[in-house]
Amino acid sequence: MKDFRGKTAFVTGGASGIGLSMARAFGRAGMNVVLADLDMATAGAAADRLASEQIKAVPVRCDVSERGSVREAALEAIAAFGKVHVVCNNAGVAVGGQLGMVKDRDWDWILDVNLKGVVYGTEVFVPLIKSHGEGGHFVNTASMAGMVSPPGLEPYCATKFAVVAMSEGWYGQLAPMGIGVSVLCPGFVKTRIHESGRARQDKYGGIGDVDPGVAATREEAAQNVLNGIDPDIVGNRVVEAVQNGELYIFTHPAMRSFVEMRFAAILQGFDAAANSPALASVKDHNPTTLLTPKP
Ligand SMILES: NC(=O)c1ccc[n+]([C@@H]2O[C@H](COP(=O)([O-])OP(=O)(O)OC[C@H]3O[C@@H](n4cnc5c(N)ncnc54)[C@H](O)[C@@H]3O)[C@@H](O)[C@H]2O)c1
Repeated sequence: MKDFRGKTAFVTGGASGIGLSMARAFGRAGMNVVLADLDMATAGAAADRLASEQIKAVPVRCDVSERGSVREAALEAIAAFGKVHVVCNNAGVAVGGQLGMVKDRDWDWILDVNLKGVVYGTEVFVPLIKSHGEGGHFVNTASMAGMVSPPGLEPYCATKFAVVAMSEGWYGQLAPMGIGVSVLCPGFVKTRIHESGRARQDKYGGIGDVDPGVAATREEAAQNVLNGIDPDIVGNRVVEAVQNGELYIFTHPAMRSFVEMRFAAILQGFDAAANSPALASVKDHNPTTLLTPKP
């Protein structure tokens, strides 16, 4: 998508952090922005702040874990600005923990918000974007945790790997409709993700502390986030990448080595398979092009 002026971006989790930074960057590029969030007080204050920066912004209540709520928020966005062109499926929460220690309700919470929230945002908006015929673009927020899986962060990584997988598939499905897809994979960014229990809905146990995983202590996990890069840098990178039609959006070039290490380990597995006596009869068995990546 090249031309943003006068078009509209709908950003879930738009009240805070990376969502707000994308809203600001799209706003600076001339778009109207919709801050779709559970936390209406913060979304309202953020919209006022953007308005003071000459960006047309409206806050809209949206719980991405509920398809109906996403649908209602989409209708509110259309009532405010007529059409939506860019959708940032960005709202997310963080849960980690030792094997066997993550509660069912925390699994449900993170799967509903981080994974199904992206499904709902995409399924609700594809027909709406198709109907106006001006094209559009989805930016789905995954993470570097969608590329590599450090011990203790499995619930979070499971959802972020899923967001990468869905984005890769949808990229191929939506391209013929003039709709682009990008998957955003940041490293640490200075936001409030380490306090995501602040927005936990009652159906998952309500507001409270959640184990953010990965690090030895809660404080360490928080410290990684607080030492992260400025969210506005991420917003600017996203606008640049959407303009260029990039599928994968990275924000921490130095983290390339983690991905290379993972890919090297995967390729080692293929080397072992290629040399395996047990597989001698199936070495050239590749009857399908079904799994060919589209980009
Ligand atoms: N901060 C990082 O280091 C980092 C790194 C990689 C990826 N991410 C991802 O970036 C995205 C944004 O997180 P952030 O870091 O800006 O955190 P944040 O906590 O500052 O912002 C998240 C926003 O999402 C909202 N939200 C939570 N649940 C919601 C729901 N059910 N429906 C609608 N809104 C909801 C919150 O109210 C909040 O405004 C998340 O998907 C996160 O996983 C963050």
